[in-house]
Amino acid sequence: MKLMICGKGGCGKSTITILLARALAETGKKVLVVDADESNLCLHRLLGAHQPGIMMDAMGGRQGTREKLKQASDHQHEDDFFKQVMTFDNLPAECLAEADGIKLLVVGKIREFGEGCACMIGGISRAVLSRLQEKENEIVLIDAEAGLEHFGRQVDKSCDLVLCIVDPNYESIQMAGRARQIAEGAGIQTYFILNKVDDDVRATMIEGLDKKRIIAAIPHNNEIFLQNLKGQSLTTRMPQIEAACSFITSYRKPLSLNMKL
Ligand SMILES: Nc1ncnc2c1ncn2[C@@H]1O[C@H](COP(=O)(O)OP(=O)(O)OP(=O)(O)O)[C@@H](O)[C@H]1O
Ligand SMILES: [Mg+2]
Repeated sequence: MKLMICGKGGCGKSTITILLARALAETGKKVLVVDADESNLCLHRLLGAHQPGIMMDAMGGRQGTREKLKQASDHQHEDDFFKQVMTFDNLPAECLAEADGIKLLVVGKIREFGEGCACMIGGISRAVLSRLQEKENEIVLIDAEAGLEHFGRQVDKSCDLVLCIVDPNYESIQMAGRARQIAEGAGIQTYFILNKVDDDVRATMIEGLDKKRIIAAIPHNNEIFLQNLKGQSLTTRMPQIEAACSFITSYRKPLSLNMKL
């Protein structure tokens, strides 16, 4: 199962990705986190893992990546990075880090002035996700970049579910509605996780969204905030994360969507 975790900048995508990864791993699932955000630098720290190599570097930088993506779209699969079938076990080892049984794959980062746009990084994510065949007990969590661009790049194309994180902010609520509209237009079911929710904002947030699609409401939590501040591994356990985790593990794609895809 592949889940895209998206939402407005700063809503808590990376935080919830890691908290969900831990909770899912504890239920016995094998979890791969894909860092598809070209800007975030520290996801490995939140997981408590070492910094892995970056796929775009391992593919030979922009030039090498351009060639490999072209080969991949021409269906020449002899290249090491784009095997016809990618699995948790044949991903390039130098681009993986691991902590507590959770794997982390980092796609690409912007590092130099004028190096070019992030479309190529989206292209790698799309190529990997479309080839990655996870088994029944394996879950892929994709930490998207802020906003809606991943939809424009079709990175979500092979995802089973979009989870949109919504923080207490009008724009964030509106963006969640738009994310659902775009994703469901492409046949991908979308659910919401409210984040940083306190009693005084809960009702307003729920009012702005389809209630049936809200799978958890995570409160503002000072331990999470401080661990994030210090770049430490996120260790907070919360019943609300467990609830989201149960939803994910029991989720079955509607038959009509299975047929559509
Ligand atoms: N439930 C929470 N309680 C307290 N603080 C939180 C919570 N969730 C996220 N935060 C804080 O919100 C900030 C943004 O979180 P995070 O980096 O996970 O967001 P993001 O959506 O991944 O951001 P970006 O768009 O930059 O990738 C961090 O300071 C983090 O500590
Ligand atoms: Mg992030």
